This record gives sequence, structure tokens and C-alpha cells, in this order.
Amino acid sequence: RVVAVIMVGGPTKGTRFRPLSLNVPKPLFPLGGQPMVQHPIVACKSIPNLVQIYLIGFHEEREFALYVSAISNELRVPVRYLKEDKPHGSAGGLYSFRDYIMEDDPSHIVLLNCDVCSSFPLPDMLEAHKRYGGMGTVLVIKVSAESANQFGELVADPVTNELLHYTEKPETFVSDRINCGVYIFTPDIFTAIQGVFTERKDRANLRRMNSFEALQSATKALPVDYVRLDQDILSPLAGKKKLYTYETLDFWEQIKTPGISLKCSSLYLAQYRYTSPHLLASGDGTKTATIIGDVYIHPSAKVHPSAKIGPNVSISANARIGAGVRLISCIILDDVEIKENAVVIHAIVGWKSSIGKWSRVQAEGDYNAKLGITILGEAVAVEDEVVVVNSIVLPNKTLNVSVHEEIIL
Ligand code: GDD
Repeated sequence: RVVAVIMVGGPTKGTRFRPLSLNVPKPLFPLGGQPMVQHPIVACKSIPNLVQIYLIGFHEEREFALYVSAISNELRVPVRYLKEDKPHGSAGGLYSFRDYIMEDDPSHIVLLNCDVCSSFPLPDMLEAHKRYGGMGTVLVIKVSAESANQFGELVADPVTNELLHYTEKPETFVSDRINCGVYIFTPDIFTAIQGVFTERKDRANLRRMNSFEALQSATKALPVDYVRLDQDILSPLAGKKKLYTYETLDFWEQIKTPGISLKCSSLYLAQYRYTSPHLLASGDGTKTATIIGDVYIHPSAKVHPSAKIGPNVSISANARIGAGVRLISCIILDDVEIKENAVVIHAIVGWKSSIGKWSRVQAEGDYNAKLGITILGEAVAVEDEVVVVNSIVLPNKTLNVSVHEEIIL
């Protein structure tokens, strides 16, 4: 039996995702037309003997209630949201719900960060994990040497795949192989986390005997029940024949900013060609718009037949796309209206926004740059014939003049 746990974090973590996280918790932001967290959930469904999926976080329970009940029914796998009273760190959060997780008596626990975009090769990874015979297996990918320091860098044995050395976001280069935030563990992970608590308590007791040192370290110390999977578990257990790696050659991205979410949306749309072609708009009917490349259109959206859409476009529920509109590389959220002959390129258009006739909302499309894509927050109104380039517009603004490289607060 296998139980999957997806760490969804909480509101304090979502600040880089503003203004999009003002409306919806980041894990529910749509990529390829489906909530971010749904991609790992669907991937978990392909694990043999999966009995339960838990989402663990410190977002309000009501924000996830509707979603988890809908997805449980749709996929016929029980999905449950468990709320931490406060952040316990990635390993501490897992540990705080160990009783729930162990209720199903799992032989394996699949643990996933919610904010990664991947093909999640979980069945193959589980097979590899069983062959290695360790306590845990980490999904790994090779990245450019320049970008590696944003992640956990690691060194593995090229023959046995054992994890030999692990450093979280090191200042000096260690390796271009990084931790993808996707793991398989045996229930022994709980003993390992318990070990960190015990060691911390022992150290605190020792310090109490030496009051000068206690004074020095009191400000630095983490709360006793805050345990990070990377620094507190992976680093100390590397090289002890307990942890192994499984390298993916497929796509992988970390989703920290709205810019990257537009790239991830395109990666998931491309994946649908193999996994869920029914989600892609085909546009071969004479009454439908012209579709180019990978496009998702929610069934409730209304798209004028003379519009031209794609590649990499996803259109959410109840959006209305007028005559002659051109959409390229963009995410159009619920209830948006785009009027005749408007153009949207490399942009995210927030819930209930409207774009006037002959207007242009665009950017150059550098996913990593701060203003590399244009973002309109919720209920932004762009009036007719206005041009918005490389800009971020916060919710509820009306734009009646053109803007270029601006953040409109
Ligand atoms: N429930 C809960 N409680 N979730 C948490 C908590 C917590 O207290 N703290 C973090 N998370 C979740 C985040 O939402 C995210 O999905 C995941 O745990 C990891 O978050 P961080 O611990 O903030 O690490 P990171 O995202 O900067 O980096 C981690 O992931 C990278 C891959 O994306 C590290 O493990 C890196 O080594 C790794 O490369």
C-alpha cells in the first residue's frame, strides 16, 4: 500500500506569486487549465496500490474543501486536506500527521512539493526505490551550473545511485544535479524525523547547563518541532546507505513566480498530447476559432469563431473571447472578457478582467525576468485601444492610457 503526501505550504510562502495569489491559494492556480496541485495528484493515481492522497499545508481549510471533494469524486481516490496549526517545515509538517498517514499501514510514502512542474515519473521511481532497498529515494535532475544554487545540490554514486553528499542552496558550486522535491520513503522516515527532535532537545538541555552559550544560540535556534527535509534529514543522512537518487531526463521546473507558471502551463499542455488529448482544443470544426498548437479551452468559455488562438494558451471558465481577437502564450482566468480585435501575448489575465477593443496586453516573454510577462490582477479594466507592455497591474485598476515597464499599484 502506498500513501501520497503533497506539501502545499501556506500563505506566507506565496508572496513571490503576487498578485495572483491574492485570490486563490497558489496550489490551486491553473496551469494548462488544471489547478497546479492536480498535476501531481493525477500522477499519483498511476502508482499501483495507492490508497490515499493527503495535502498538508497551513492555508485555511475552506480554501481547499470544495476542491478536494471534487477531485476525490472525479479520480475516485480519497484526497484529504490536513491543516497544520502553524508551519512545521517540510519534514515537520509530514511528521505532525504521521498518525493519519500510518492509519493505512503503508509500505511506502510518496512525498511531493506542490510547487514543482514535472512529468512525475512515480511508478518507475517506486520500482527503482525498491531495487535500491534504502529508506528514501530523491528525484534528481541535471540543471545548468549557473542555476543550481537555487536548489538543493547533490552528488550521487554513478553506479549504485546512492546519495553521497547533499547541500541546500550552497554558496559555492557543488554539483549540477539538484533535488526536484519529489521523494519516496519507507515509514522509517518518521524515525529519522523523531531523531532530529530528540537530538535538538538533548542539545537544548546541554545548553541550559551552560547559560552563556544558551544566551548566544537562543536567537538562532529553530522551534524544536520545525524540521526541514533538506537540511535536517537529507544532509545528515547522505553517504549512510539510506538515501538513493533517481534521475529524470524529462521536464522539470520550480514554480516560484508567475512568469515561470506561464512556462509550466506550456509544458503541461504539451504533455496532454500524450496523457489527456481530450483536454486540448482541436478547432477542426468550421464553427470554432482557429487553433494553433497546444490550447486548452474550458467548456463554458465562449470563443468567437474568427478569433485566432495559440500556441500555449489556456482559457478558464466563463471567459468571453470576441471577434478577431489574437491570443498567444497566455493564461486567461475565469470570467475574463476580451473584446473585438484585442491582442494578448505573453500575459496572464486575472479573474473578471476586461480588455477593450483593439487593445494590446503583451510582453517579450522572458519567463525569468521580473517584467518578462505582463500580469493583470483580478478585475483590471483595460479600456479600448490601450497598450500594456511588460507590466504588472494590481487588482481593481482601470487603465485608460498605455503603460510600458511599469508596476501599477
Ligand atoms: N505543509 C507545509 N508546512 N508545507 C511546507 C512547509 C511547512 O511548514 N514549509 C515548506 N512547505 C512546502 C512548500 O510549500 C513547498 O511545496 C515545499 O514544502 C518545499 O518548500 P521549502 O522548504 O520552502 O523549500 P524550497 O521550495 O525553497 O526548496 C525545496 O524544493 C526544491 C525543489 O523545488 C528544497 O527541497 C530544494 O532542495 C529543492 O531543490
